[in-house]
Amino acid sequence: MKRSTPWKVAVVGCGSFATSQYLPNIAKTANAVLTAVCDIRTDIAEASCRRFGAQGWFASVEELVEKGDFDIAIDAASIPAHHHINKTILAAGKHLISQKPAALTVEELTEQIEIARRNHVKFSCVPIHMITPDMLMAEQIIRDGGIGRVLSAKCVSTHGGPEYFQYREADPSWFYEPGAGALYDMGVHALDKITGVLGPAKSVFCLAATARKVRTVRSGAFDGKTIHSDKIPDTYFITLDFGDDRIGFVDTGYTQLATRCPPLEIYGEKGVISFKPHGGVWPNPEVYIDSPAIGMRGWITPMDWVKSTRKPNFTQCCPLADLVEAIENDCGPVLSPEHARHVLEIMCAIPRSIEENRPVELHTTFSPFL
Ligand SMILES: NC(=O)c1ccc[n+]([C@@H]2O[C@H](COP(=O)([O-])OP(=O)(O)OC[C@H]3O[C@@H](n4cnc5c(N)ncnc54)[C@H](O)[C@@H]3O)[C@@H](O)[C@H]2O)c1
Repeated sequence: MKRSTPWKVAVVGCGSFATSQYLPNIAKTANAVLTAVCDIRTDIAEASCRRFGAQGWFASVEELVEKGDFDIAIDAASIPAHHHINKTILAAGKHLISQKPAALTVEELTEQIEIARRNHVKFSCVPIHMITPDMLMAEQIIRDGGIGRVLSAKCVSTHGGPEYFQYREADPSWFYEPGAGALYDMGVHALDKITGVLGPAKSVFCLAATARKVRTVRSGAFDGKTIHSDKIPDTYFITLDFGDDRIGFVDTGYTQLATRCPPLEIYGEKGVISFKPHGGVWPNPEVYIDSPAIGMRGWITPMDWVKSTRKPNFTQCCPLADLVEAIENDCGPVLSPEHARHVLEIMCAIPRSIEENRPVELHTTFSPFL
């Protein structure tokens, strides 16, 4: 049931993503208000509190759950901190949105899901792809039979490397260290989309290469610095078996300086949906229709539906609206932790597939979105 007073939101980890995407957008995204911020860097916590008008700031997640006034937390801290933060928030009986990856192993994420279940709180996990306007349009086209049965999908999530592609003040060398890399940085998005479209996969096979062993930073504060990028792969070609003769392909890595490949194409028996780069606006995808009934085939760019699914002011803060809807209607969020756990299992299985040069079976599952 809709609440008349706003949901109180705490943000844990006030770094670059939280500052640009969450903190300025909370009140614009849902019936919600920012009440607390938390960061182990007290200077950052205090400055964020002042800048975004929270009631209080906290230097640890323990202090936040003990003294903070909030219903929902958004964990936007650094990746290694997610598991501890998430367990603490959920155990305190608060609803939670976690940035990716919510944990580093399937077992850890299962533990978080169990804590949420025991405490009767809603838990959702980023990435946001299953609720973006272009994906919602594709979902509607597929549900309405526009491209027939979905047979396969192909997803491309690549660039030339963080030292090449992005301007940053911080040293990007850590992206090339074990535990980081293109699979966790870029592949997670493609795997989230392709499993979102085709459902849980049965097995994964991956060929990988470490194609560029030395790199030079091309902009920012560390312009000109040499990075030794030979410890983990930078090119991954991943194939997924979804059963029932449906397969998917993911191309991810840091070796494509540019590409004109669509970020996602979905191939159906009667047509194709081809996505465009989102560019912060998530434009409508192009659709190829083959219709023997009217004797026509070809590409169209559909307009928004008469009753548009496109949410106004859609931003990366949208998981908050998804979670509030789940709380108010007592249903699961679309961005489910079970989906995130399946993507995490695939990412954990890929190094084994590369090493043993064989497909690796997958065991986790989730309720498909489509
Ligand atoms: N979805 C996307 O497209 C996308 C893009 C960028 C980053 N991210 C994710 O957002 C998260 C944050 O990334 P970022 O680029 O903002 O990093 P960042 O380093 O700029 O910020 C992380 C902040 O977390 C704080 N922190 C670390 N441990 C903490 C703890 N135990 N308790 C409280 N605060 C803690 C740090 O002090 C820092 O201020 C990561 O999970 C990353 O994967 C997602």
